[in-house]
Formats: sequence, structure tokens, C-alpha cells
Amino acid sequence: MSNREKLVIFDTTLRDGEQSPGATMSVTDKIELALLLEALGVDVIEAGFAMASPADFDAVKKIAAQIKSSRVCSLSRARVQDIEAAAQALSAAERFRIHTFIATSDVHMKYKLKMSPDEVIAATVKAVQCARNFTDDVEFSCEDAGRSRSDFLVRVIEAAIDAGATTINLPDTVGYSMPHQFGQLIAEIRQRVINADKAIFSVHCHNDLGMATANSLAAIEQGARQVECTINGLGERAGNAALEEVVMAVNTRKDVFPVYTDIKTEHLVHLSQKVSEITQFAVQPNKAIVGRNAFAHEAGIHQDGVIKHRETYEIMRAEDVGWNGEQMVLGKHSGRHAFRSRLDQLGIAFASDEELNCAFNRFKERADSGAGLSDNELKQLVL
Ligand code: KIV
Ligand code: ZN
Repeated sequence: MSNREKLVIFDTTLRDGEQSPGATMSVTDKIELALLLEALGVDVIEAGFAMASPADFDAVKKIAAQIKSSRVCSLSRARVQDIEAAAQALSAAERFRIHTFIATSDVHMKYKLKMSPDEVIAATVKAVQCARNFTDDVEFSCEDAGRSRSDFLVRVIEAAIDAGATTINLPDTVGYSMPHQFGQLIAEIRQRVINADKAIFSVHCHNDLGMATANSLAAIEQGARQVECTINGLGERAGNAALEEVVMAVNTRKDVFPVYTDIKTEHLVHLSQKVSEITQFAVQPNKAIVGRNAFAHEAGIHQDGVIKHRETYEIMRAEDVGWNGEQMVLGKHSGRHAFRSRLDQLGIAFASDEELNCAFNRFKERADSGAGLSDNELKQLVL
């Protein structure tokens, strides 16, 4: 672990995640999730956007008062009023961060902000300086960085760091970038920004083209040391990079990523199920890491391989992310080997091979006509 660098995990399930249409959470739900995120080992919890509504302010305030080991953060536009609201809501926190942002792409500056690039730089400096009056942990985000001109990003980031920003976040706000481009953007910015060594570079990727995790990982390869993500990939539109995917990718591919996280991965499944229960957003069965099929084997060839040597078809251990119980599904694609092995586990033995064959044929007939069989169904079938 010694030559590995820390990857800061910034969770925004309670802020960007809640921006998923239909995923509104009550203050009580948010507090429950914040405590679980703290237990998971998340470094920064973005608890909300204090200025957005009285309920958001209240949630940030209550979370700030209860969380001890993670930093609590509130989002704020690059406006003094927003920053003051964030600081007020966060004031009870043991350690807190103010996250301020402004858009830096031509299309956002011209049509949304109606501001010139110089005005955006002036607003950035003012916002970061204002935030620094309340905390020495200030994050600045260049909204729509994925579609911003790199020359302008360099200027605005240098100004933000000079003004006191300690984390610089480059969001792919609309999920437009491809991994090789996004990695190049991070590399170029880190190389050209003259005071880059005074800040941690962060990324925040949306999933509109299904690239959020890939783009986050490409950025880590190019030196980003904070990733913003959400449980189950919840978030605005198609969502954000999924925390569980990013964390398990860097854990599993230590040969590729020279980083570590402090995430206690065995909490991942529970957190995923809690977020799904609270938001009523189902987790797709084949979702990486936390989908119920993520570690399930049904094909006979795969089951045979896993029984003989687990690593033939498993790159991670189900129990390391919080699954427990049997991951072999006995269904129409299962073979004799898996069938026999499951019966052995259930303590069912056969007097002869012929008896075993008859039972296997009955199982196949039944499995061909439907879904996988539970242990009880299997016992009833063979006994
Ligand atoms: O997607 C985005 O750009 C954001 C920023 C406010 C960080 O959520
Ligand atoms: Zn976002």
C-alpha cells in the first residue's frame, strides 16, 4: 500500500443522486444514508445544496451535526448568498467542505450564464475567496468541463487555485466525453496549470453514453485523485459514475491503478439495497457489483469451472462486496457437476449413479420450463 496514492471518494448520492427525477429523499432518509456512507468509509459526503430549498438546508445541517469521520459538504453556485447558506448549514460539522461551481463551456457561458469568460473568472475568484473565509477546504468545479476549451480551463483553474481552492473538479456534466479524450483532458490540464501541485484534481462523470465509470477510471490513470460518484450510479438523467464500480475497479486492477481507497467494500451491497429501498429505484439484476446476478453462475461450463477453481470465472469475491450465500443458480443451463455439488451441500446422497441420473433428468425437465430452482424446490424434486 505504501507506494500507492490515496483516491478520495466523494459521494454525491444525497445531492446529485437526489436530482434523479423521482428519487426525492426525506431528511430522515438522508440522515440514515449519510450514517451508512460514513460507515462505508466515504471521505466526503455531499449532503445537499443548502441554498436550493429549506429542506435541503435542513438536511445538510442535520447531517453536519451527526457525521464525525467523513467531511460533510454542500454545493453552492459561485454566489456569495449560496456560499453563506452552505457555510451556515455546515457550521456544526466536525470537518466540512464548501463546493462552489460555475460553468466554463462556451455554450453554458453564452446561453445560460450570459457572462463573458473574464466575468466567469472574476466570479470564480470571488466565490473561492468568499468560501475560504469559512473553511480551508474549498472545492471549485468547472461545470461542463468536458465540453470546455482547455485554454480557458487552464486560466480559470489557475485563478481558482490562487484564490485558495484546494480541490479542482472537472465534471463531464453531460456525459459527452469518451474515455481516451477525458483522460487526455486531465493529463493536459494537470500539465499546463502552473499551480497544479497546490490542489487535488477531481472528476465527476455523468453516464449519458454509459461512460461514467470508464471516464472516471481514465482520469485516475492520468492523475485525478478524487472521484465523485453515487451509490448505484444514481444521479441527474442517466446518473453518475457508480461508487461501487469505481472502487472495485481500482481494488481489483491494482496493476493498472496506483491508488487505494478507504472504502469498506463489504458494506457495498447493503448500501445499494438501502438506496434502492429509499428511492424505489430498482437495481437491474445484471448491474455490476450490486446486481443480484453480478456473481451468479448458471451456465454449466461456468459452474463446473468455478467448482474446480473459483478464479476460472470470478475476478472478485462476492463476500468482499457484501454478498453472502450460494452464487450458483441451478437452472436450465446448469450441468450435472453443479447439480451434484449443490445436493452434496444439502446433504442429499444417492445410492447409485442411476438414481442420480434420474434425479438430474427430472431437474432438467423442470428447469427447462422456468426460472432457477431454490434449495427447497430442489429437495422436493429429488427426494
Ligand atoms: O454535473 C455537474 O457538473 C455537477 C456539478 C455541479 C459538480 O453536478
Ligand atoms: Zn453532476
